[in-house]
Amino acid sequence: MPHAARYIGLMSGTSVDGVDGVLLRFDGPGEHAPLELLGSASVPMPQSLRAQWLELQHAGDNELHRAALAANALSRLYAEVVARLLESSGCSAEDIMAIGAHGQTVRHQPGAHDGIGYTLQLQNPALLAELTGVTVVADFRSRDVAAGGQGAPLVPRFHRALFGQSRSALAVLNLGGMANLSAWTAPEGALIGFDCGPANVLMDAWCQQHTGAPYDAQGSWARLGRVHAGLLASMKSDPYFDAPPPKSTGRDRFNRAWLQHHLERAGAGVTPVDVQATLLELTAQTCAEACRRHAPHAEALVVCGGGACNDRLMERLGHLLAPMPVRSSAEHGLPPQWVEAAAFAWLARQTIEGRPGNDPRVTGARGPRILGAIYPR
Ligand SMILES: Nc1ncnc2c1ncn2[C@@H]1O[C@H](COP(=O)(O)OP(=O)(O)OP(=O)(O)O)[C@@H](O)[C@H]1O
Ligand SMILES: [Mg+2]
Repeated sequence: MPHAARYIGLMSGTSVDGVDGVLLRFDGPGEHAPLELLGSASVPMPQSLRAQWLELQHAGDNELHRAALAANALSRLYAEVVARLLESSGCSAEDIMAIGAHGQTVRHQPGAHDGIGYTLQLQNPALLAELTGVTVVADFRSRDVAAGGQGAPLVPRFHRALFGQSRSALAVLNLGGMANLSAWTAPEGALIGFDCGPANVLMDAWCQQHTGAPYDAQGSWARLGRVHAGLLASMKSDPYFDAPPPKSTGRDRFNRAWLQHHLERAGAGVTPVDVQATLLELTAQTCAEACRRHAPHAEALVVCGGGACNDRLMERLGHLLAPMPVRSSAEHGLPPQWVEAAAFAWLARQTIEGRPGNDPRVTGARGPRILGAIYPR
């Protein structure tokens, strides 16, 4: 296995806002090899495809057929991102060892039902291999679930490989549709990680409904509102927030129906802008409390994911965690919007080189596992 190898990572997360892709070069052996960002590209999720994914989040008529076609459409979008990455970096398909492609999550129910449960990230990896001429690694989560784990989060091991080279103890918070925290005490120390709860998914839905914008840019709308104490307390009473790790979550739990339930409990009279302010505060408080409780030794919190661009949310996190510094991952070498895509390039490399991608202390799986299915070029 050559020591300088290029990998592509593709991420389309629970926000269903688009596909983020990176092209990385790893220089050296092993999972802590230094990496270089050779290219990055994003394409927004077309409105009609976004609507199809949102429909597929719950049971519906002829869903197998609709799921298969949405998977094809996503794979074409993935191929477009790959083409852009190759073009902008001057690489050809043959230069890429593999693509790590996440797929679109439509159900996340590990451990449920029959005790094994399932997690479902849809895409058509065979089509992606066909369209790109590159080996594809897909379906990263199922093996961890089969081994009794949550299948999520898978990024903590990468977060430590990327940000953990200094001697300091750090915590890393990804603010995507959901929020997940990773933390370690020292480069060789214990790693923890879990999903904290919703990050942007409820704020996005509420903002879309009341302003027409897909998200509250910089949190400027939320900034105008006042936090409603009753609504905040009702939402925070959800047992998920206090449950001990391992734990992971998604739209299966934190969705419009969940918000509606808490709005009804809070009673009439909460204005839309106050709801937005309260949803932002929910994300800030639950993430800050997760960090305080589970990463008390962290010297700083590194934030990645689209939520790192929400100035109001970053301000609130900084306030709640003071004096702990709260910084964008850009200050640690990788801009926030590329971290999760980079994780899937890294995970694909782990698979191709025969190393585990999960950390059983994080997911609760019975042991480390080599993740994913390989679709050769
Ligand atoms: N400028 C901005 N201001 C406020 N929020 C932003 C801004 N840019 C992005 N966001 C938020 O980030 C979200 C997208 O983040 P991201 O792509 O990291 O999440 P995701 O697709 O759910 O990924 P994952 O599941 O990997 O965490 C948007 O839906 C939006 O809520
Ligand atoms: Mg996204």
